[in-house]
Amino acid sequence: MKFAIITGTSKGLGASIAELLMKAGVHVVGIARTRNRDLLQIARDAGVTYQHFTCNLSDVDQLDRTIEKINDQVFKKETDLVYLINNAATVNPIDIATKHTSEAVQAHMQLNLIAPILTTALVLKRAKHCGIKTVVTNVTSGAADRSTYGWSLYGSSKAGLNRYTESVALEQKELKTEHKVILFDPSIMDTGMQGEIRSASPDAFKDVEQFIDYKVENKLSDTADVASVLVKILLDEAAIINGKYYSIKDYR
Ligand SMILES: NC(=O)c1ccc[n+]([C@@H]2O[C@H](COP(=O)([O-])OP(=O)(O)OC[C@H]3O[C@@H](n4cnc5c(N)ncnc54)[C@H](OP(=O)(O)O)[C@@H]3O)[C@@H](O)[C@H]2O)c1
Repeated sequence: MKFAIITGTSKGLGASIAELLMKAGVHVVGIARTRNRDLLQIARDAGVTYQHFTCNLSDVDQLDRTIEKINDQVFKKETDLVYLINNAATVNPIDIATKHTSEAVQAHMQLNLIAPILTTALVLKRAKHCGIKTVVTNVTSGAADRSTYGWSLYGSSKAGLNRYTESVALEQKELKTEHKVILFDPSIMDTGMQGEIRSASPDAFKDVEQFIDYKVENKLSDTADVASVLVKILLDEAAIINGKYYSIKDYR
C-alpha cells in the first residue's frame, strides 16, 4: 500500500496532485482549511481512500495534533511507501516590507516555511521509527532565486524552504537512510494564487501588469498538466534523486 499526505488539497495544484495520485492507486490524506468533496468521489471511483483533515497550518498546535493523527493512520504494517507533499502556501501579504504587520509576517512564515519544516520532521521521524520508505516533496517557486518588489516574504520563505530541503536531503544521504527529500518548482499556473497576485495594487507589487499579461496571453499552466509531471516523477520512486530540484521547465 502507498499513502500520500498532501497539504493544500482543497484547490489548485494540491487538488490535482491528489486526484492523479489516487487514479494511480495511491491512498491520499489531504490537509487544508476547507474540504474538496470531488476528491472523495474520485477516491471511490479509483478504489482507494481519501481522508480530509481540516487544519490551519499556520497554527502550530493544530498542525502537531493533525500530523500525529495522520501518522498513526498512514504508517501501518501494510504500508510500503509514504509520500509527503508540502504544497500549501500563500503569496500574501504582497507589499513592501515597511507595510507588513507582525501578524501577517508570522502567519506567512508559519504556513510557507515552518509548517513544511515541522511536517517533514514529524513524518521522517515516524518513518524512521517504523522503517517505512518515505519521499518528501517540498513545492517551491522560482521566486526563491530572485528579488521581487512586494514579494520579500514569499521569496524569502521559499528560499528558506530550498535550503532546508537540500540540508535534510544531505542528512538523509549521510545517514544512509532510504528516504528521499526533493524540491518541485511548478512555475506559473492558473490558480487562485495567481488571481491574488493579479489583484495586487501596482504600489504594492510593481510587476502586476506582467502577471495580468500572463493570464491574458494564456501563459499560465493547467494544474492537471503540472501535477501529471510530478506524479510521474513520484511513481518511479527508484529513479528519484534525493536532494534534486525538479523544475517543470525541464519537462516541457
Ligand atoms: N500558482 C502559481 O503560479 C505558482 C507558481 C510557483 C509556485 N507555486 C507554488 O505551488 C503551490 C500551490 O500553489 P497554488 O497556486 O495551487 O495555490 P492556491 O490555489 O492558492 O491553493 C493553496 C492551497 O493551500 C491551502 N492553504 C492555504 N492556506 C492554508 C492554511 N493556513 N492552512 C492549510 N492550508 C492552507 C489552500 O486551502 P484552504 O484555503 O482550504 O486552506 C489551498 O488548498 C504553492 O506552494 C505555491 O507557492 C505556485
